[in-house]
Amino acid sequence: MHYLVTGGAGFVGSHVVLALRDAGHSVVVFDNLSTGHRAAVPPDVPLVIGNLSDQALLNTLMERERFDGVLHFAALSLVGDSMRVPFTYLRQNYLNSLQLIELCTHHAIRRFVFSSTAALFGTPEQQPIMEHATVNPGSPYGESKFLIERVLHWAETIYGMHSACLRYFNAAGSDPMGRAGEDHRPETHLIPLAIDTALGRRPALSIFGADYATTDGTCVRDYIHVTDLAHAHLMALEQIETRSVTYNVGNTTGFSNLDVIRAVERVTGRTVNWSWAGRRQGDPATLIAGSERLRRETGWIPRIAALEDIVETAFRWRLTHPDGYALPAASPMPGMDMPA
Ligand code: UFG
Repeated sequence: MHYLVTGGAGFVGSHVVLALRDAGHSVVVFDNLSTGHRAAVPPDVPLVIGNLSDQALLNTLMERERFDGVLHFAALSLVGDSMRVPFTYLRQNYLNSLQLIELCTHHAIRRFVFSSTAALFGTPEQQPIMEHATVNPGSPYGESKFLIERVLHWAETIYGMHSACLRYFNAAGSDPMGRAGEDHRPETHLIPLAIDTALGRRPALSIFGADYATTDGTCVRDYIHVTDLAHAHLMALEQIETRSVTYNVGNTTGFSNLDVIRAVERVTGRTVNWSWAGRRQGDPATLIAGSERLRRETGWIPRIAALEDIVETAFRWRLTHPDGYALPAASPMPGMDMPA
């Protein structure tokens, strides 16, 4: 099959590109490189640099390439940031996706995989969170993703487009073969920040909030290895041959922010210098995935499920890429041993 991957130079998108190619599919990446990296796209994968708002460019591309399907990752994706600039999130994520989906219907593209989020559940009463849980986004980011899910609903109802809405919990780790990793600028995610703090590349880490209703007062998240997440996309593509699906994608296990720090300390063998800070706006206390539907209907099984194993892949990539995609290092950082 021949797929268009928007945001394929980003963290999750680049890992999905690898999974698609490993499975024998051909791919074209569309990315404006605002947060993604050219070096995250394999050299033999065509990269079209452009904005999703550029309808003419996308139209020409679809005309020329005759894609069998689209996997859509390009989006603003920071919960906290979306509380600061809500309309930017709502406008960019929703409008760009709406136009992309509409264009797909014009080109009779009937397969669409959408990178949705656990953030559309807000602060749910029941954990783990099942697909039928009440949608009540706790942030403009989560809201923007839910609006897009609704667009896909109408694209199916009226145009017969089959879609998969994959509601990611916390994607983390890096390609076990070392071909891709996590490199956000600025980095805001807990695991890479804790690793960089352990490595002494950051002076300290702030833990946002000590008074949540959780076992140790810090937020609890369900960390899913990015390669397992990528495989869920392949499984979803099989499903949408015949129907549309919505899946929560996580490990069904929650770890507090302090659990994450301890895991990073064990994996790196170093101390993470951290201190308390106030809550970050928009953060729900607990997000744990109920992923039974995905497992039952597709046979998906996470292969790197233990938090320390997830952290270890992220750590390995950081050792070989101390400056992320900017300057890949030929050897590990001075004074660091590669984990076995
Ligand atoms: N955190 C800190 N200090 C930091 C960074 C993060 O305490 O310096 C905390 C956050 O407050 C939160 C937890 O670590 O409690 C995880 O935060 P991340 O920023 O790593 O991830 P989020 O849970 O905010 O969001 C991620 C993705 C979203 C997705 C969500 C789904 O970035 O796109 O997971 O669960 F919607």
